[in-house]
Amino acid sequence: MDMHAPAAAAPAIIRRTDYRAPDWLVPDVALHFDLDPALTKVRARLSVTRNGDHDRLLRLDGDGLVPLEVKVDGRLLAQSEWHLEAGALIIALADVAHEVETLVELAPKSNSKLMGLYASGGLLCTQCEAEGFRRITFFPDRPDILSRCRVHMVADKARFPILLANGDPIEQGDEADGRHWATWNDPYPKPCYLFALVAGDLACNADHFVTMSGRDVQLGIWVKEADLPRTAHAMQALKDSMAWDERVYGREYDLDVFNIVAVADFNFGAMENKGLNIFNSRYILADPETATDIDYDGVEGVVAHEYFHNWSGNRVTCRDWFQLSLKEGFTVFRDQNFSADMGSHAVKRIEDVRILRDGQFPEDSGPLAHPVRPESYMEISNFYTATIYNKGAELIRMMALMLGPERFRAGTDLYFARHDGQAATCEDFVRAMEEGGEIDLSQFRLWYEQAGTPRVRALLSHDPVTRQVELTLEQSVPPTPGQPEKQPMAIPLRVALFDPESGTHHGDELLMLTQAEQRFSFPDFATAPILSINRGFSAPVIVDTNRSQGDLAFLSAHDDDPFARYEAMQQLMVNVLVGRIGGQTADEGAVIDAIRQTLTDPTLDPAFVAEAIRLPSEAYLGDQMRQVDPDAIHAAREALQRSIGAELEPLWRDVHAGLKANGFALSPAAKGARKLRNAALHYLVASGAADGPAIAFDQFSSADNMTERQAALGTLANGVSPERVAALDIFYNRYSADALTLDKWFQTQAFAFHPDTVDLVEELGRHKDFTLSNPNRVRALYGAFSGNQWAFHHRSGKGYRLVADCIIALDGLNPQTAARLVPPLGRWKRFDTERAALMQAELRRILAQPGLSKDVTEQARKSLD
Ligand code: PHE
Ligand code: ZN
Repeated sequence: MDMHAPAAAAPAIIRRTDYRAPDWLVPDVALHFDLDPALTKVRARLSVTRNGDHDRLLRLDGDGLVPLEVKVDGRLLAQSEWHLEAGALIIALADVAHEVETLVELAPKSNSKLMGLYASGGLLCTQCEAEGFRRITFFPDRPDILSRCRVHMVADKARFPILLANGDPIEQGDEADGRHWATWNDPYPKPCYLFALVAGDLACNADHFVTMSGRDVQLGIWVKEADLPRTAHAMQALKDSMAWDERVYGREYDLDVFNIVAVADFNFGAMENKGLNIFNSRYILADPETATDIDYDGVEGVVAHEYFHNWSGNRVTCRDWFQLSLKEGFTVFRDQNFSADMGSHAVKRIEDVRILRDGQFPEDSGPLAHPVRPESYMEISNFYTATIYNKGAELIRMMALMLGPERFRAGTDLYFARHDGQAATCEDFVRAMEEGGEIDLSQFRLWYEQAGTPRVRALLSHDPVTRQVELTLEQSVPPTPGQPEKQPMAIPLRVALFDPESGTHHGDELLMLTQAEQRFSFPDFATAPILSINRGFSAPVIVDTNRSQGDLAFLSAHDDDPFARYEAMQQLMVNVLVGRIGGQTADEGAVIDAIRQTLTDPTLDPAFVAEAIRLPSEAYLGDQMRQVDPDAIHAAREALQRSIGAELEPLWRDVHAGLKANGFALSPAAKGARKLRNAALHYLVASGAADGPAIAFDQFSSADNMTERQAALGTLANGVSPERVAALDIFYNRYSADALTLDKWFQTQAFAFHPDTVDLVEELGRHKDFTLSNPNRVRALYGAFSGNQWAFHHRSGKGYRLVADCIIALDGLNPQTAARLVPPLGRWKRFDTERAALMQAELRRILAQPGLSKDVTEQARKSLD
């Protein structure tokens, strides 16, 4: 071995097929916290029982912990009676059941990873999923160990007047020295990743909910006193979610209290800890002054998501982390349908498909592609991905479609009844669907195994003599890392054939494509029909068709499936743009006509219109090309936008003026009007009309809500007008004290189509309000920037360098958040050789850093393959 090259040890690979039942179980645990930001003492008493007949040692995971005491059945062990192995505490035990007690000390205020027990804005809080509990105490940190847990907390009463934990409050009291204590008990056995506690000076928005069996549940949303007025929407969302889960899934809440706490520093969106959800404050706080309609919808959707986890995640949890989509895919599916029921089904579906295409399709076609049920990982935190969440939700949606609502409900009823109180697998879910729904899902299971987005080629032909229509469908799944060859999938495709004369069809059919190539015949068509396919986006696939621009224009005006209508419009635009990017003079007339027609159709919901008239994103256009040319894409898209703006200028003016509201409302109608009004403003400014920036600035200044203010700011930020500078300054001065709103100031500039965005982002990285210690701020600047294709892929390579610098600087503080910035650098195969070389060089520079985290190592290594 070469002693001069101490190569960073390759992180161990964990494999799904290595699963083994635990050697020891922990039916009960009692935790005692002596809380203090500088030094917290944690005493844990575990009742452990031998699982099966074996003589293996007890292994309690630990991460950065030093045992100050280890006791077994009350007896203090000598140092020689235990040892540490890769952070874990190893003890030999003689009998089938013992009581093991440990004492450790933590320093929450220097915990910058935001995993385990940490301090955020004067609070102490925890984050345990996936493997944070081992940073709090020694414990078998795996989701198939379910324990009943009792928590006792002691803390200074003035600094931490509120003490919360999972389950129900049992007792509380004061001590003589200005400290106080509280005990909580959670009667439901749960995995330790669902453990939580919070201590701090918090105010409560208190409410209650009466469940379907008549139990009164106390609801609390806990925030800093000043934020209380911004919690009403979250509370409404919580009550709506509770009612919805009873109505739609027959699922009732099971404890006497349900608490939510908002914290400023959080690695993800929110966490479903049993009875004590902890949220990134951006998904709790909302008022018209600071939150956009998208933010309001985010609050509603995430509150629902975490609440729904109480059944899909907590009552039924995951056996191991390879089953993560069991809870996440299903829960995303549930929150998507909840949000659709609360607003517009059509618009929600379009938004969700856009999220899938922008976030998951690129993952599925890149070096980090993995199945919905992965086979291996180095660091589980890297697998909280769009594939697990959003593609996972699409899998549930396909099953729901194939089964129909009644049989799907029978399937979920069976799943919950059969697995309540258990740690289950994706296979358990599919089997419950099969049995409860009486359907064979053998081939469908491939969706859990095979990564990559399937491609379906659809060719329609018509024979005027036999009056037969034939639809030929071919499918292929591209190779992905570790999976060079794929089998044909079971793909449910909703299809309709439109008569071009009458503009109608004879009904929507569900075709099951199960072979590599398959033909479907439809009798009795006098004239060739027009194909509407993958209606409602019935399968998460890419469909290529032989439809003409004329067919697409027809569907964009007549398709009665809103998603298919939107899709026809998008395809029309993509064809023109991709043609132009390839140097052809594709005719933009059809696009402009379709937009005019959509805008002036009085039967359409304005929110739908706003979606339909929007140009495909630069990233989506890049995905349609063999090699992404960011500059050509940007130029073509800007040019088309300008033509649409200029050709329809009077219409944009009318729409923009006509939709000016008289006072603020949060109704779907008011939100739809704002969405369309902002789209009109965008095209009006894009038209190049001399008064465009002034109109945008006027909207910016006079708006009584953040939706219109931020849209105007975003529009101005794209240009080089004097109004741009003025609006950004005003925005900063107005909101610099409010972190969540200041994030928008960073994000708007990082997203901007402005020639100097790269340099501006570099400057913003040195701004006095920028900090690496707050994940929201990091995402607002660098996360947004790396999603700005044109700017990030600046041919100088400077964009890559900025993001790599950030990853390197952040890795020592917060590896999880650092690792999530890596994937955009891994897209190098899709770009020209110069850009590819620059991106690879940055990945290598990252990997050369000494002491690099497992999180970033895994992502950067895989990204270089
Ligand atoms: N389980 C959380 C959710 O999706 C996400 C999360 C994962 C939060 C890991 C924190 C840490 O609801
Ligand atoms: Zn979740």
